Amino acid sequence: MSVPRDDGFVYLADYTAPAWRIPQVELQFELAAEATEVVSRLQLVPDPAQGGEALVLDGVDLELLAIAVDGVALAADRYRYDGRQLQVPGLDRACVLETRVRIRPAANTRLEGLYRSGRLLLTQCEAEGFRRISFMADRPDVMPRWRIVLRAARTDYPVLLANGNPLGTADLGGGQHEATWENPHPTPAYLFAIAAGPLERVTQTLDTAEGRRVELNIWAEAADVARCAYALGAVERALRWDERRFGRGYDLDVFNVVAAQDFTMGAMENKGLNIFNARYILADEATATDADFLAIESVVAHEYLHNWSGNRVTLRDWFQLSLKEGLTVFRDTEFSSDLHSRALKRIEVVRLLRGRQFAEDAGALAHAVRPDRYREISNFYTLTIYEKGAEIVRVLHTLVGDTAFRAGMDRYFADNDGRAATLEEFLAAHQAASGRDLSQFARWYSQAGTPELRIREHYDAASGDYTLTVDQHTPPTPGQAQKQPLLIPLRFALYGADGAPVTTPPDTGAAQAPGLVELTRARHVLRWTGLTDRPLPAFNQAFAAPVKLDLDYAADDLARLARLERDPFNRWDLLQRLATGALLGTLDAESATSALSDALADLLDDDAADPAFVAECLALPDFDTLAEAVDVVEVESLVARRESLVERLAEDHVERLERRYHALAATARQGLSGAAMSARALRNACLAWLTRLDPQAALAQAQFAAGGMMTERLAALRCLLHFDAPDAAAALQSFRDAFAHDPLVTDKWIGLVATRPHPDSRDAVLALLASPWWKATNPNRVRALLGSFARGNALGFHRRDGGGYRLLAEQILGLDALNPQVAARLLGSFESWRRLAQPQRGAARAALESLQGGLVSPDSRDLLQRLLED
Ligand code: ARG
Ligand code: ZN
Repeated sequence: MSVPRDDGFVYLADYTAPAWRIPQVELQFELAAEATEVVSRLQLVPDPAQGGEALVLDGVDLELLAIAVDGVALAADRYRYDGRQLQVPGLDRACVLETRVRIRPAANTRLEGLYRSGRLLLTQCEAEGFRRISFMADRPDVMPRWRIVLRAARTDYPVLLANGNPLGTADLGGGQHEATWENPHPTPAYLFAIAAGPLERVTQTLDTAEGRRVELNIWAEAADVARCAYALGAVERALRWDERRFGRGYDLDVFNVVAAQDFTMGAMENKGLNIFNARYILADEATATDADFLAIESVVAHEYLHNWSGNRVTLRDWFQLSLKEGLTVFRDTEFSSDLHSRALKRIEVVRLLRGRQFAEDAGALAHAVRPDRYREISNFYTLTIYEKGAEIVRVLHTLVGDTAFRAGMDRYFADNDGRAATLEEFLAAHQAASGRDLSQFARWYSQAGTPELRIREHYDAASGDYTLTVDQHTPPTPGQAQKQPLLIPLRFALYGADGAPVTTPPDTGAAQAPGLVELTRARHVLRWTGLTDRPLPAFNQAFAAPVKLDLDYAADDLARLARLERDPFNRWDLLQRLATGALLGTLDAESATSALSDALADLLDDDAADPAFVAECLALPDFDTLAEAVDVVEVESLVARRESLVERLAEDHVERLERRYHALAATARQGLSGAAMSARALRNACLAWLTRLDPQAALAQAQFAAGGMMTERLAALRCLLHFDAPDAAAALQSFRDAFAHDPLVTDKWIGLVATRPHPDSRDAVLALLASPWWKATNPNRVRALLGSFARGNALGFHRRDGGGYRLLAEQILGLDALNPQVAARLLGSFESWRRLAQPQRGAARAALESLQGGLVSPDSRDLLQRLLED
């Protein structure tokens, strides 16, 4: 790819093609937890076009035991290995490089490369983990075919899995056995995987639309295998959906998935052998919430769908990361929307965008969806690359329409199958299929920051002239002071005085399709003439463009529009806007509050509305979303205003909340059906509002005591803990004891303790850190305790005395030496520190500065530097 410049950054502009091709790799593992030996045979072919460069391979902290070229051992002066790279000068023709190295899985706390999790041995190679296993041109544009032999003691490692198709097994005598795997598809090293250990499986066979018989397996340790059935069903649904919606089939004889308790990220799409964080596989009604089930389905789909958007067509270099991640998030979101409620999925995504991605785009770590430089690629697995990247694909879909979009995808897959592609090639395929010039659209990839649309209306009653003036603006971000106008598809609808949509298109301002205008310039004016009444405009239906809207509605207009608007997403959004206006003082607080309250009354009275949608309308914008919408964040007052608004609304509707809570009880017992999940969502929303008004928390206590599904138990426990109910401690104790053996459920109560909305919760976090529950080497546990505290507990993390920041900084220091990616993630929770009011801003800076000189990993050092840069 390219080497870092003197400033420590790798630059997109420095890309050069590989000097050596590697058509074939053979690996042989002698697996054991303390020490594993890896023999590698690389077929090397120099690329004459690259001018005979010396052979340089990546290999980090490998113990090199033997090295040979074409079967002849290399003398010590024929190669150099410095612990990072292997150089073999003087090679100028095709040859086979054979190396033997020793690595130490049990000592690997980074969980990158080959590592141990419980009794399993597993790998994680994306982005640059393979170089910790063996020597390789560890870059995504080098795509060999692979043959992998695994050898191990049969009692410790009865199951031996690798990428591709199984070729056979053999007994080696002396308690040893081996398995051979072959991956016939050209595959970069970041998609390499093996898994070994006492795994059991759930399995299913199906025939693909192309007529291939495929075995689907989900593997887990014996105690967990009973909770894999739901994930197996999700694999099948994803496979069928990709056949139907994108015409993409599966291309191996087996699809294996392994669940691991120790895993840094969510999951990994290794070719034919996905490895998952157990939290995105294991589920049953007693231990997983409804939200867990939906997340499992969507992550399983995400990884499965990568088989085309990521594996068959991979990346030329890591700057293209969103080419696979944004596209695959778009695809998994469409999958979930097709299978369940499209509007609810949109609401879920927009909450994540507004609460987290917009904050990232406005903070110290803002970066383009295709960055032009990085110091550490692991720091770019961000909401911007993933979620904003998916939004950009959605913008493209909106611009060209579904038919042309599908044609563009077909063309992209056809033109790039087996290749390492770039975003330009993705756009070229869509440009060819749609006939549209996408050059301005491409700015979405290079320009960081969330665009803002300021819309002002003018109505002249005498002439009937009505204009909407739309100005676009993207604020500066680190390293990008000036922004250019983006191509933004803006959806709109006008509602007349009679409540009916105005169907006349604007006379000027060119709407490209009914209700859609493509903004290309800093200012557009849409003009209608002859309107007999002032209409009410609504914008950005289904959140078709990932932008912020600055509108000057009055509270009454918003409330009226919330009733008229046909788009369900927007009906929700207009209520969010009312709430935000009431909370931030941009609307008259009293009229906004009573308008919101009236709207919620109607929703709660409407038994025909989807209860889950009603629940979403009850859930006001969260702290992060509100904090992102203000210039200076006054933490306590923001939280207090939000609390008092919820309290006022709850008081307004006690009877309604009670009625819905009880009326939905029967439906809520109907297992995992959509109707039952919806019923539980609204019941739990009602429960939270009712509990805040009842010091005895009687309803929550009863729901907790009734046991039942995890969705209900956990929601009740949250109410008891977060509203300081009299029974909270006893409830926590019984929950803790009931699930002490289950790390995933343990993470749930730890998350509740860490997010109790009170400055004192810091002490509970400290107590857990000193308890046997703390496991610094388990990323899920770290996220449950420290991640939830930093990201989900405004009053605890942002304590006025800085105690929350200091706690986090101290933990980051320790974690950095164990698992740099986990430490760097936590450091990211300081991304918006500059917008905090005093005393928090000073305290956050002090906590960050205390880390200077102490951090060892490039990951954390890169983030700290960016956080403190002016
Ligand atoms: N490609 C994985 C996914 O499906 C994530 C891998 C993350 N790896 C990392 N080093 N951050 O999104
Ligand atoms: Zn992904």
